[in-house]
Amino acid sequence: MLSKKIEAALNKQIQIEAESSQFYLAMASWAETEGLNGTASFLYRHSDEERAHMLKLVRFVNERGGKAIVPALTQPPKVFKGIDHIFKSLFEHETKVSHEINKVVDSCLKEKDYTTHNFMQWYVSEQIEEEALARTLLDKLNMIGSDKGGLYLFDRDLESLGSAPIEEG
Ligand code: FEO
Repeated sequence: MLSKKIEAALNKQIQIEAESSQFYLAMASWAETEGLNGTASFLYRHSDEERAHMLKLVRFVNERGGKAIVPALTQPPKVFKGIDHIFKSLFEHETKVSHEINKVVDSCLKEKDYTTHNFMQWYVSEQIEEEALARTLLDKLNMIGSDKGGLYLFDRDLESLGSAPIEEG
């Protein structure tokens, strides 16, 4: 059975994952309209993964005797300044998400909720991969700079690049 405190922390995380999904969906849609098809595919997949992260939490909260709250949607940005802006925002966003995950883990220890602590380890590993991927992409973009050929290849490579793997656990 979840304590009220952990239930609230998990519901907050549900909201964060849902917002991440919306944020990346907005980025994907923008990229698609800019002709960045590889970037768009990558971000659409990433948005789906965030929804899966949210769903995994919803199911866990309910299975543990809590009540998951499906959050309201907030309007994500409609316009991005460019591909650099997209990947910089993605990296910064994932860093914030990691920070939030760590806070949940910390609360689990304080509350002695080892079951939720164990469950949250999947998110901890996932964040390591997501941050590493976002950092790699940002580094690549910084190297490419304004070279059009480089940007073309970067976008093309993203078509086939999986984002951080999602496993059922
Ligand atoms: Fe579910 Fe990208 O954090």
